[in-house]
Amino acid sequence: IRRTTVPQIARRKGGEPIVSLTSYHAHTAAIVDKHADFILVGDSLGMVMHGMESTVGVPLDLMIMHGKAVVRGTKKALIVVDMPFGTYEESPNIAFRNAAKIMKETGCGAVKLEGGKRMAETIRFLTERGIPVMAHIGLTPQSSHVLGGFKTQGRDEDSWPLHEEDARAVSEAGAFAVVLEGMVEPLAAKITKQIDIPTIGIGASAECDGQILVLEDMLGLNPWTPKFVKVYGQLGPMIEQAVSDYAEDVKSRAFPTEDQVYR
Ligand code: KIV
Ligand code: NA
Repeated sequence: IRRTTVPQIARRKGGEPIVSLTSYHAHTAAIVDKHADFILVGDSLGMVMHGMESTVGVPLDLMIMHGKAVVRGTKKALIVVDMPFGTYEESPNIAFRNAAKIMKETGCGAVKLEGGKRMAETIRFLTERGIPVMAHIGLTPQSSHVLGGFKTQGRDEDSWPLHEEDARAVSEAGAFAVVLEGMVEPLAAKITKQIDIPTIGIGASAECDGQILVLEDMLGLNPWTPKFVKVYGQLGPMIEQAVSDYAEDVKSRAFPTEDQVYR
């Protein structure tokens, strides 16, 4: 294995922070690959790439299609592919079948699934059979219909023990890392200290062992910027300027010119 391995990520616990971003297609993934320890092909691609309202409708085939593109476009980072809603919750057997399909068809190195204590048995089942699992707790978008939306977790200190229990359960079940999404800082800090595997934060403070963001969010391509996102590049306005310049040039016949014409 020439790419960053699962044990290499796991060993980063408490060390130099782990760098990660999402990617859904080959050209952006190739750029991210130069700087990220792992790349997540997240089911957020349902919204970002396909205009869906939530991740609930994302099919397995779509994850596999984008997973393949990202594996082809990269050579260094560990590639983690999200298991979409409905493909793993029912039983460890069904989860294994679908996770194996994702790994075989995309060539990714690990899968990610949402859920804490309730998914521990499945995480163990997969890990013992050769499929590394990244867990995802706190704000879990695939459960937004039950939770009543996307809410920051841990604002009420009474809820902390449940989240801590989730973190311990996935760690003890063999997950090699866990995403903490949408969580107040003191809870993320507490969990990070309590478990032996790296925590990867998104909206969960710098107390985590690493960070992840949705690439399009940090590039300024999302018209709405959530509080936890820092925008590192204004690609939205840049693309708009380029498209409008092109439109002007076509209308005025300023494009194509000599340089772009075959003689
Ligand atoms: O789907 C996704 O992009 C994710 C990250 C936000 C962790 O799960
Ligand atoms: Na996701």
